[in-house]
Formats: sequence, C-alpha cells, structure tokens
Amino acid sequence: MGYQEAFREVVLNPFREDAEISQEVNQYLADYQQNRAEFSSFDHYIRMKILGYARTPCETRALALLYSYTYMPMHLDGNKKVIEREYQTFFQPYLYQKPSNVWMIDVGCGPMTACLALADFQQSLPDPKRLELDYTGCDLHSFMTGIALNFNEKKDIFGENFRGGYPDIKNPHWMEQLGCPLKDGGTLVFYFSYFWEQGGVTEEVSKWVDCVKRISLQACVEDTFIVYLNRDLGNINSAYTEFKRRIGERSDTLEVIASEKCNHRYQSWSGLEEWVMEGIVPKPRPKKRTDLHYEILRVDWKHF
Ligand SMILES: C[S@@+](CC[C@H](N)C(=O)[O-])C[C@H]1O[C@@H](n2cnc3c(N)ncnc32)[C@H](O)[C@@H]1O
Repeated sequence: MGYQEAFREVVLNPFREDAEISQEVNQYLADYQQNRAEFSSFDHYIRMKILGYARTPCETRALALLYSYTYMPMHLDGNKKVIEREYQTFFQPYLYQKPSNVWMIDVGCGPMTACLALADFQQSLPDPKRLELDYTGCDLHSFMTGIALNFNEKKDIFGENFRGGYPDIKNPHWMEQLGCPLKDGGTLVFYFSYFWEQGGVTEEVSKWVDCVKRISLQACVEDTFIVYLNRDLGNINSAYTEFKRRIGERSDTLEVIASEKCNHRYQSWSGLEEWVMEGIVPKPRPKKRTDLHYEILRVDWKHF
C-alpha cells in the first residue's frame, strides 16, 4: 500500500465511515451552509474558520483528521523539498554513509508528516542505501498521534528497517522512559516541521532546548542535528529564533549547515463537502507555490 492509498484509508474514509467523526463534521457543514457567502468552499471554511490556518489545537479526532486532510499534503511536499535538496549536504554524508541507525525525534509530529516524506524519499533509493530508522513522534494532542499510529501500521510505506514510537509527552517522565535506540555511531536528528508557529510554543523554548540537550547527552552522540522548516515568516522574531539563540549560546556548539529560503509546489485537495455528502472522492487541486524557510543545525554538546 502506497501513501495515497493509506491517505484514503486513514484520513478520508473516517469522514464517511465513523459516526462520531461524521456527526462533528456535519455540524461544521451545517454552519458552513448557513454562511456559504463568506467562503469559496467547505474546504476554505475548514482551513480558515475551523483550523485557523493550522493553529487551532486539534482536541478532537475530527479536528485532527481535518488537519490531516487540509495541511498534511501541503507540509508533506515542504518536507520532501527539504529532504531532496539536502540529500547531498546533510543526509548523504552524515546519515547514509554510516553503517548504523538514525533516531529521528519529530517534535509536534502531527499525523507523522515529516516521517512520511522521508519514507517516500527512501523508496527512491536502492535497498542498501535506505536508513535504519528509529522514529519517535511527539505531539501534545493524542488524536494526532492516533492518526500517526494508523499510518505507522502501513508497513509497506516505511519498509522493514523502521520502528516508530509515540510517547505521551503530557507524562512528566516521558523522556526518562524513552530508552535510547541509538547504536554505536548512530545519528540523532530532532525535527521541527511547522511547529514553531504554534500558539504557546514561545513559552516552551526552554523545555525543548533542555529536551534536545538532555536526550543528546543521554544518547552520547557526537553530533545532534536539528531540522527546522516552516512557511517563510519573513523577519518575524519567531520562537524558533529564540530556540536557536539558546541552543547556540556557546559559539563552539552550533554550526548552521543549511539556511535557505526557497519556493515549493504543494498539493492540496478540494471537494470535502461532496465527499461527506455524496461520496465523491476529493480531487487534487493544481499545485500551488509557496515560500519555505528551512535550516539544518549541527550541535556538538561534548564540551558541556
Ligand atoms: C502545524 S502542525 C505540524 C504537524 C506536522 N509536523 C506537519 O508538518 O504537518 C503543529 C503540530 O504541533 C502540535 N503541537 C502544538 N503545540 C505543541 C506542544 N506544545 N508540544 C507538542 N506538540 C505541539 C500540534 O498538535 C500539531 O500536531
């Protein structure tokens, strides 16, 4: 089963097949139908009014599925762009040439978007070049990790050398309970995909600096990599800027391997109303362009 089939099974089908999801989505649909004039489509209403441009906390399963329908394909393409571009500068020299594993900790993983992009890229590589990947997806909302777990079950997408885990990060002891899957010479990657624009994360900068540092020291790795990507926020002083400043407080610890702004073409879908009401499968829209900002940092904690 490929990603498209999995997307249909994990994300689209519950809108029609799960009574609790349908009930909540039908309420949104009724509200939209009363205010049709304000929105170009139900998809637009969901993106703007219900998901607040991906900033609404997904505290129900329906909201997590609506996020996955609306934003995951878009963010998946952003991640693919970064992975394809940085294969030469980052992934190949640092990851692929080592006969060891990679531990990817995906902060604010949502429905597992970044890992799905990496898995898709891996399929284009010959077998011996594929990563042995231990993946830890962290998200505040269990409905998001629930969807990630459903993707995780689709073994064909990830191949044999993949193991995924989803700690409950509301548990104050989650880090100690994690266990370190890294083998000798393994590579640790923290991944922040469309995370640092979320409400409330400004107050969490210290928490994630401590988390990166603590897990890196426990894992005894020489280098820790940090991947950041987001829509381009221009000169807005985002929480990421502060996170990076705090990580690089000691100049000998931080190297910026890549810092790029680029354009990427992303996929989105149209026709949620028809899918919910009549079972007509949503259609891919023509791809659109948007601005992307990404950075890859290498951190060396051994002086601490
Ligand atoms: C915009 S989504 C990005 C999801 C995914 N990384 C992607 O690229 O599609 C942000 C995610 O961060 C999660 N999140 C928000 N605040 C968080 C926090 N304080 N700690 C962990 N996850 C959080 C949200 O639940 C949501 O899944």
